[in-house]
Amino acid sequence: MLDRKPRVGVFGLNRGSTLAKNGRPAGLEFVAACDKNPGTFKYMKGIAEPDAVYYTDFDDFIRHDMDAVILANYFNQHTEFAIKAMKAGKAVISECTPAASLAECVALVEAAEQTGMKYMLAENYPFMRGCAEMARVYQSGILGKVVFAEGEYVHPMSSGEFLGISPGKNHWRRHNTKIHYITHSLGPLLYMTGAKPVRVNAETVFLKDHALELYDTCEQRAAVEEAGIMLIQMDNGAVFRISGSNNLAPHDNWYRLACTNGSIETVRGNNGRVILDYGAWELPVGVTESHRIYDAQWDELTDLAINADHGGGDFWEMYKFMRYLRYDEKPYFDVYNSVIMSATAVMAYKSALCEGAPFDIPDFRDRDIRKLYAEDRFTPFPDYDTGEGKTLPSNAHQDLFDAALAAREAAKA
Ligand SMILES: NC(=O)c1ccc[n+]([C@@H]2O[C@H](COP(=O)([O-])OP(=O)(O)OC[C@H]3O[C@@H](n4cnc5c(N)ncnc54)[C@H](O)[C@@H]3O)[C@@H](O)[C@H]2O)c1
Repeated sequence: MLDRKPRVGVFGLNRGSTLAKNGRPAGLEFVAACDKNPGTFKYMKGIAEPDAVYYTDFDDFIRHDMDAVILANYFNQHTEFAIKAMKAGKAVISECTPAASLAECVALVEAAEQTGMKYMLAENYPFMRGCAEMARVYQSGILGKVVFAEGEYVHPMSSGEFLGISPGKNHWRRHNTKIHYITHSLGPLLYMTGAKPVRVNAETVFLKDHALELYDTCEQRAAVEEAGIMLIQMDNGAVFRISGSNNLAPHDNWYRLACTNGSIETVRGNNGRVILDYGAWELPVGVTESHRIYDAQWDELTDLAINADHGGGDFWEMYKFMRYLRYDEKPYFDVYNSVIMSATAVMAYKSALCEGAPFDIPDFRDRDIRKLYAEDRFTPFPDYDTGEGKTLPSNAHQDLFDAALAAREAAKA
């Protein structure tokens, strides 16, 4: 128990300042911030305490007197900073993704266990209104058991927008496959159902002409595919079909639970609305309509969440972090339920590289399993500063892409 507001520092101030803005009404106090680009410090104005201290170096920042840190630095570089923070005695809430390789999954789990520090993933989509309602209805038991579920995170953008938020040839967005940004599609389904992934197979979509266009207009970005689709066998027998961050129309996120007694899904284009269906021949006691579309509501703290970013999800994840820090209320996305999503993405990408072959997903609660993957550093992401560490292409059809580039060069000659 903590009998005061938790004192929190923010690392990475683009996304990090938005999280802090939503964290203030949730009961967090921001006493320090860190970004190597001091031009971002202004984003904390009116959010951080007036006497907050600003740093450009993480090793200085992490020594600041505070209870916890928000990690919102580069997508593929969260693990090393989460481990440093926990070793420095700070609780961590980390943006997605928790780990960029299986070796990082192992290291993160072991650091959380060895230090005993609190770790939570900043996965916000499960707490948007439609997803929260799907979780409430499913967990009431009225729909029976989940049989099939779908989750889509679709985020197309223009080349101009892409370049504006992807500075430098090693920036994570330029190497982000269509598989690895998995948490916004899979996270809500895990949170709703409590099921765990055990095996995955995946395919990616490569369109030669569009890939060449993306390569030309986005300064030779490495990730030039359109979509990644994963089929996941779950531990309760269900099958989930999810996307990574896909480049198709329209920009949206969408979820469906198809169950033994009925189904619930968000409305495409309005993820605060849901469609709830039962077979007309098996209406549950007290239910009079077999088909209903309605606006979902949160039960509590609605005024605080309603204007929060990402459909309210940003408020809720900060609120849950505050409750974890102050009252020790355990979040669903603890270190194990977080790394299982990274492990699913890594195995799905291996599958896509092997023409859709199935891969088992390691459960890192098991210490013997950890030994098998502690040195598995396969990743499509380079280190931002050094460019080192990239061991896989960012395109599961790299051979076709290389051939297309070569053919184009040959045609010019
Ligand atoms: N959950 C969501 O809805 C959501 C939305 C946006 C972004 N994100 C996640 O948040 C994270 C950050 O996203 P972003 O768009 O702000 O990324 P970004 O690349 O634009 O920003 C990262 C920031 O971290 C700073 N940084 C990186 N390494 C540093 C270091 N070693 N020392 C000091 N500063 C460092 C950079 O200067 C930069 O300002 C990513 O993981 C992304 O996936 C999540």
